Amino acid sequence: MNKPQVQHENMDQFAQHNGRLLVGGKNLDEISGLLGKEVFYAYERRVIDARIEQFKAFIPAPIKLHFAIKANPYPPLVHYVASKVDGLDVASQKELLIALQSGADNRHISFAGPSKSEAEIKAAILAGVTLNVESELELKRCLDLGRQLGHLPRVAFRVNPAFELKASGMKMAGGAKQFGIDEERLMEILPTLDFNRLDFQGFHIFCGSQNLKAEALIEAHNQTFHLAERLVECCPAPVKSINLGGGFGIPYFPGERRLDLAPIGENLKALLEATSIDLAKTELVIELGRFLVAEAGIYACKVTDIKESRGQTFLMTNGGLHHHLSNSGNFGQVIRKNYPVALADKLDQDATRQVNVAGPLCTPLDSLADKVWLPEAQLGDWFVVYQSGAYGPTASPQDFLGHPHVVEILL
Ligand SMILES: Cc1ncc(COP(=O)(O)O)c(C=O)c1O
Repeated sequence: MNKPQVQHENMDQFAQHNGRLLVGGKNLDEISGLLGKEVFYAYERRVIDARIEQFKAFIPAPIKLHFAIKANPYPPLVHYVASKVDGLDVASQKELLIALQSGADNRHISFAGPSKSEAEIKAAILAGVTLNVESELELKRCLDLGRQLGHLPRVAFRVNPAFELKASGMKMAGGAKQFGIDEERLMEILPTLDFNRLDFQGFHIFCGSQNLKAEALIEAHNQTFHLAERLVECCPAPVKSINLGGGFGIPYFPGERRLDLAPIGENLKALLEATSIDLAKTELVIELGRFLVAEAGIYACKVTDIKESRGQTFLMTNGGLHHHLSNSGNFGQVIRKNYPVALADKLDQDATRQVNVAGPLCTPLDSLADKVWLPEAQLGDWFVVYQSGAYGPTASPQDFLGHPHVVEILL
């Protein structure tokens, strides 16, 4: 057998009291009592604050911070984060409505995403948010709908750069991609555009997500600045805004460490000092999702059965992949690895038993943890999955097999 490994090692973002996990100062029985539910996501404001403060401490001030709400569109959380960041990025009409109702200024909301429907474009134009246009036909649709509605559409071009963001969980630029317009094509069309038909904003250069390597992000920032400078040079209209992308990752798996923002910030400082872009006229933005919210959330469920099968112990729970697809390994992982997990009221107990944790769905995919070391479990114990504040309920097949949907709370 492998050496016991404490599964929640490094999960120091939450307080605990007498070995019990506290989220927003409450233990899980108290949160459960508030909600009247035994399966839930809980998010802590204080942890979100810490990530925003970390960004502001290291990333030079002229660079604005936007929150990509796809990571967690829970309205109370979006409302909270909106008051602390400089803008929001949305990816659908529903997210647009959440963002608008969060109180965010429409001029600081951008709408990115390929294959936008006419209804989405129309809503974005009516709301006065920036459409990050992903294709030439989409640009035509924006201009036509703008004319019909009698509003100049606010438009930025999403660029598919020639370079890629190395070592990223998901690469979204470089080579042939469904996102944005290839940089070389954009250079060709920019001089031919009638800029009187749009309220031109600038460029959106988003290369990838879930990156834990500072040197890869630094290289991408160097290339992004170089590309942005060339785009500004060949663009006949003033460039008001350049979105430099995001991709800051968080540690999910054993051996991964939190991203070091210090060298990234130093490099950005040097780029700002050397750039030919007029920073008095052009705003720069970094757009982050999971970095701001993932570590602030836990998914909690209860142990409902404990069974043995041919020498292995299975803790069965009332929560599963229908609520938390990414933890099950089916949301972009090639080989399933365990998220950090714990028995939330036994944090001070030694991990003495290797167990598998599984949910209520009739599929072997419904695994919450494989061969993890936990303290001795009892029926009714709280089982928690850390790093669950991003890509949780809305990235999960909640209707699969007809089990109840999960509830959320921001504390
Ligand atoms: C355009 C865009 N912005 C932001 C994000 C958020 O990424 P993350 O949550 O890893 O920061 C994504 C992720 O797919 C994206 O496509």
